[in-house]
Amino acid sequence: MPLQHFDPFSEISERMNKEVNPYVLKLSDAARAGTLPVKYGPLLKDLPGNWREQFSQINEASPDPLVLEIGCHLGDALTALGSSFPETRFVGLDITFKRVVTAAERAQTLGLKNVMAAYANAKTLDLLFVDQELSGVILFFPDPWEKKKSQHHNRLLTPEYCSLLHKKVAEGGFFWFKTDSQNYFESALSFMSHAGWKEPEEWPQLCKFEIKTKFEKKFSSEGKPIFEKVWIR
Ligand SMILES: C[S@@+](CC[C@H](N)C(=O)[O-])C[C@H]1O[C@@H](n2cnc3c(N)ncnc32)[C@H](O)[C@@H]1O
Repeated sequence: MPLQHFDPFSEISERMNKEVNPYVLKLSDAARAGTLPVKYGPLLKDLPGNWREQFSQINEASPDPLVLEIGCHLGDALTALGSSFPETRFVGLDITFKRVVTAAERAQTLGLKNVMAAYANAKTLDLLFVDQELSGVILFFPDPWEKKKSQHHNRLLTPEYCSLLHKKVAEGGFFWFKTDSQNYFESALSFMSHAGWKEPEEWPQLCKFEIKTKFEKKFSSEGKPIFEKVWIR
């Protein structure tokens, strides 16, 4: 299956009915007016290679880290990390209008200048960031697609995607993964190792941060084990 399902730079209204989902209009209006820290479609086109410049605080002498969270949902991890690591810029991607808008609203309410949300499918990662642009990637509880083995090919973490992540993260950068699916976790261990990712002696400071997202709380309350790992590029 190709990683790029559709053009991430196309206008949303060409794909969605604004009348049906009010968040489509809210997202495009807020992004165009710059009233929320959010990006989508055509506004993403100039960002590959220029993401750091989208944030108001720029440290020219030493570019601040840029961390991507895939599947940021309503911004639980994004805003908690953004508050605790003000020198790091965070971009959260999601494919749901309401979640992207809500994550951006939460960042704005908290006054976080280092957090931005973007409406985009993570499968288009190759188009969204230039090689080695990212300092780290976070993926917490991606859809496990595990009812049947035949669904596994729908998972985000395939051998191809682990190699793509390796290409997009700068040397010394990290990939932080959590899942409730043992099978997904075991596949990831194998795919990441084949893609050249290394196991660190010590986790980066940011990945030691204690954060329980909505889905982690849900799975923990159901008594499910949580599988977690950090790799270094
Ligand atoms: C199971 S939820 C986990 C949410 C959050 N990370 C957490 O731990 O609570 C998966 C999230 O990933 C988003 N998602 C699914 N596929 C995606 C994709 N291809 N690109 C970006 N986001 C995606 C969903 O909309 C949803 O918000």
